[in-house]
Amino acid sequence: MTASDTPFSPNALKDRIVFITGGATGIGRGTVEVLGGLGAKIFIASRKQDVIEAAVSDLTALGIDAACAVCDVRDPDAVERAVAECVEWYGGLDILINNAAGNFPCPTAELSPNGWKTVIDIDLNGTFYCCRAAYPHLKASEHGGRVVSITTSLGRSGWPGAAHAGAAKAGILSLMRALAVEWAPDGILVNAVAPGPIAGTVGVDKLYIETGREKEMTSRVALGRFGTTADIGNAIAYLCSSAGNYVTGLEMVVDGGRQWTFTANS
Ligand code: COA
Repeated sequence: MTASDTPFSPNALKDRIVFITGGATGIGRGTVEVLGGLGAKIFIASRKQDVIEAAVSDLTALGIDAACAVCDVRDPDAVERAVAECVEWYGGLDILINNAAGNFPCPTAELSPNGWKTVIDIDLNGTFYCCRAAYPHLKASEHGGRVVSITTSLGRSGWPGAAHAGAAKAGILSLMRALAVEWAPDGILVNAVAPGPIAGTVGVDKLYIETGREKEMTSRVALGRFGTTADIGNAIAYLCSSAGNYVTGLEMVVDGGRQWTFTANS
């Protein structure tokens, strides 16, 4: 994917500094390629050194300014350090994207307390730690700070078989809406993007491709296909660019209409 997959002007995010968790693969990777193609500088914070370094090298080859730090979002001190590294490297932080997530399918009655805690720690607590660490820098942003967190419609409906992840995502959405109000006076816009099934992600590969359910699942999407990582990157670009200047506290569902076909078929 390149910037040519985006309809935005090539300078729409010129010199914006993006701090993204888990940005080396999947939706995060597609997002940084779109935002970087629009002139943003990318800082990836994620767990695996070899994976983030490979991503930085790929992005650099695309002409995108990119850097990274190893960071497990479950560790608030590690998050503080990664944010400080980003600010030292680029001189600020304008856009925070809370994308890192952990999940596994498990019937709730069989889920251990540590299994529950692990997913809540990564998804919900990690998002809070990042928002907390980024806040003074977002407030100081000359462009107006932006926060975008990745959620899912299954956070609102409940997620049978992954109740821990559904509960974490519902918590993230509530946090985004609280911050949208608390941080509005600081010029910071806070939103969520809820992707449907996106091709080339661990979730879709594990849940639908490897189990032979691809056709069944695409038939449940009104638009008849899985989304692309660029579909999500472009939604985030909208929220982070001046096009989204009057949008805060929104959960933008980017799922090809899947949530409504579930309703129609029930
Ligand atoms: N079913 C049931 N319980 C599971 C599980 C599964 N498939 N996977 C992990 N757990 C439980 C473990 O048993 C452990 O609990 P316990 O101590 O009571 O046994 C707890 O979760 C922590 O597991 P652990 O493997 O030590 O955690 P981790 O930090 O190494 O990894 C994840 C946690 C969520 C990141 C891991 O499951 C993972 O790598 N998932 C795939 C990647 C992913 O989630 N991508 C995002 C897709 S949206």
